Amino acid sequence: MDRILIRGGVPLSGTITIGGAKNAALPLMAASLLSGEPLTLRNLPDLADVRTMAQLLMQHGVAIEAAGGQGALALSARRIASTTAPYDLVRKMRASVLVLGPLIARCGRARVSLPGGCAIGTRPVDLHIAGLQRLGATVELNGGYIEAHARNGLKGAEIVFPSVSVGATENLLMAATLAAGETRLINAAREPEITDLAHCLNAMGAEISGIGSDRLTIRGVAALHGASHSVIPDRIETGTYMMAAAATGGELRLHGGRLDHVDAVRRALDAAGVCVSEAADGITVSRRNGRLAGIDLMTEPYPGFPTDLQAQVMALMTVAEGASMITETIFENRFMHVPELARMGANITVHGASALVRGVPRLMGAPVMATDLRASVSLVLAGLVAVGETVVNRVYHLDRGYERIEAKLSACGARIERLRD
Ligand code: UD1
Repeated sequence: MDRILIRGGVPLSGTITIGGAKNAALPLMAASLLSGEPLTLRNLPDLADVRTMAQLLMQHGVAIEAAGGQGALALSARRIASTTAPYDLVRKMRASVLVLGPLIARCGRARVSLPGGCAIGTRPVDLHIAGLQRLGATVELNGGYIEAHARNGLKGAEIVFPSVSVGATENLLMAATLAAGETRLINAAREPEITDLAHCLNAMGAEISGIGSDRLTIRGVAALHGASHSVIPDRIETGTYMMAAAATGGELRLHGGRLDHVDAVRRALDAAGVCVSEAADGITVSRRNGRLAGIDLMTEPYPGFPTDLQAQVMALMTVAEGASMITETIFENRFMHVPELARMGANITVHGASALVRGVPRLMGAPVMATDLRASVSLVLAGLVAVGETVVNRVYHLDRGYERIEAKLSACGARIERLRD
């Protein structure tokens, strides 16, 4: 298993190009199942999760080929060969559950393995299932699989989400495009990745209004056609490198990053004493003179502070002046990075859903273990500021969501390398 070796203490300086958003790319790829015509996606990131989604779609019968240009794929679901998403692929990546809505909408049936628990909490799919039932599907759980049927097709309905879910909003948005009549999604998630999906679906002939709000109205159509769509830049990758500039005290230009997608991050960093400004083609981030100031923040659905940046901001706060209180409201078990950061000298105590971080003057390099995607990148950030050597083990987590991270960071002066076994 590959490891990453970091020799910390170098302020980063230079330009990093932000890739396409993983969390937009995966639902967009699943949307190709809705049409018999090709969907061309551009600006797809080169990541393990994107390859897993491609593998899953191919076994459903989707033909996938390079479409010219970097990160461009044409996905063509002329014939659906199988409506089953097998356990072996779903267990690798939870986002596989996003084929459920498109398959049942297009074929009237779908059999998708239950994703099961994962490192950051139990993460049920009850909202996905309840929503499909509202659209007239019958759903049974059988042998670890969700078995959904809608023999006479789905029918539009009003769905009120009791709590905000990104995945459930995406699944039901896709399913509703081909349902008969009108569907209203109330208390829908508003993440930029959902807006991106809605725009792509409309380009395919769907009739979605209310895009960007928490009330989406979808007028069902008989069929969707082909389209070409470019994936939005990754706001989590953007936020992660914003923290890297802040943590090391350097200055980074994030080419292609969208400041309007990371406003909550900008506000948090501003309070911590970090300068964030819009540049012609992205974002510039630099630390003001002196140490970072501790801040209190809480993760929330968009436009609040993203849970996918909680571990990274915690790594940053370990070296801030004073105390910070970081509260996780989205997932119940998302503090696995805490004991690893503590091994590097961080002073953190967890009380329920909140972590109290008392800033220390410096972290010390240590061997650490990555437990999930965002936790592992927080250890890379900690390694960049720590004195001495840090080795991050189980790097396959990082490869699921960060494209060429060592190359991007070392081009800005970081002493970081991949150790291949
Ligand atoms: C997506 C993102 C993930 C991000 C998360 C929150 C992708 C591939 N993943 O995950 O990176 O961390 O949004 O922004 O885009 N819940 C239920 N029942 C359900 C569905 C969700 O109780 O049926 C709960 C979850 O356990 C969690 C909360 O709702 O506590 C939010 O989950 P959700 O927004 O659905 O996250 P994902 O779509 O899995």
